[in-house]
Amino acid sequence: MAKVKVEFRNIALAYGKTQVLRDIDLVIEPGEFFALLGPSGSGKSTLLRVLAGFARPQAGRVLVDGADISGVPPWQRDIGMVFQNYALWPHMTVAQNVAFGLEERRLPKNVIEQKVAAVLELVGLKELSSRRPSQLSGGQQQRVALARTIAIEPKVLLLDEPLSNLDAKLRVHMRVELLALQRKLGVTTIFVTHDQEEALSISDRVAVLEAGVIQQVGTPVELFDHPVNRFIANFVGTANMFAGTLRPGADGMVFESAALGTLLLRGAPAAPAGAVEIAFRPHVVTLVEAGAAPDGGLIWLKGTVAAREFLGEFIRYVVTVGTNEIVADQAHYTDARKFAPGEAVNLGIQPEQIRLLPA
Ligand SMILES: Nc1ncnc2c1ncn2[C@@H]1O[C@H](COP(=O)(O)OP(=O)(O)O)[C@@H](O)[C@H]1O
Ligand SMILES: [Mg+2]
Repeated sequence: MAKVKVEFRNIALAYGKTQVLRDIDLVIEPGEFFALLGPSGSGKSTLLRVLAGFARPQAGRVLVDGADISGVPPWQRDIGMVFQNYALWPHMTVAQNVAFGLEERRLPKNVIEQKVAAVLELVGLKELSSRRPSQLSGGQQQRVALARTIAIEPKVLLLDEPLSNLDAKLRVHMRVELLALQRKLGVTTIFVTHDQEEALSISDRVAVLEAGVIQQVGTPVELFDHPVNRFIANFVGTANMFAGTLRPGADGMVFESAALGTLLLRGAPAAPAGAVEIAFRPHVVTLVEAGAAPDGGLIWLKGTVAAREFLGEFIRYVVTVGTNEIVADQAHYTDARKFAPGEAVNLGIQPEQIRLLPA
């Protein structure tokens, strides 16, 4: 299958007075597994619908392999879409559901049979081809929806929250399968989700949307390690954030805030002085007993445990520092020291893990 490139060029779309997409400029590379991540209502489905031809933007162009498809009707775009609710025909068998799109294309009967068999084999449904959707589990129905879409050999595969109806374990299993299948087919794929873990775990790159605006595009690691703003830092993972001012000092940048006092950000790259916000992840904070000798490499603060939550692999502590709170995740081991609510602690923050965000 030829891999195609998809470009959104300055797409703007409004429904009445509601501006749903604002100046969307995005390039999806040939064969990429690309995620659109954002909260509910941020415009993810609308952007897919623009590409599929079901929604018409007021401005901008959509290019597939360099050709403007803005004027091409949906059925001539060769774009396959899997919907969140699967939209299977309940009265048809699995094989008939998968054959439907091929019959619409008036392919010869024997070709249709071959293609249906091949695609059901590919998604592991060969044995269930004569069942109806109601006789299948959620995961199997999801596979039928996928099989039906890839049977028509689309140039681009669009997946709109395809896993959100599955239970947690199955969701994790299916996303691994989905990626394996995409790699086998090589088809350029855009995957929509509101689940940051899902987006980070399977995508080559992710675009984060908020209120119709792309906030950041990058690899999962880039988004997590170098969020460009407060929204991304919070939406992709969890972050402790504090507003203050930055100034150069003798040993590196110095951050001052009412909440945390003066912190020396040793190892932080030089940055312009002035108002900033710092952000750091809960797992870069180490908790020790109040009396413990602090490690010189860390930034140390005094606090009191306000709450703790046992999450299996780690314990999430909320620690009060002055009038503020810091979330600190500590890896859990059977005999690791636990801290009780009310207990005084010292918090160590790895300075090189602190990120600077625009204030
Ligand atoms: N056909 C429509 N008519 C009017 N408003 C719409 C329509 N489709 C979507 N919207 C609005 O556009 C915004 C984005 O919707 P959508 O793209 O479905 O978001 P997401 O998929 O990110 O949850 C929402 O505020 C939604 O109410
Ligand atoms: Mg949606």
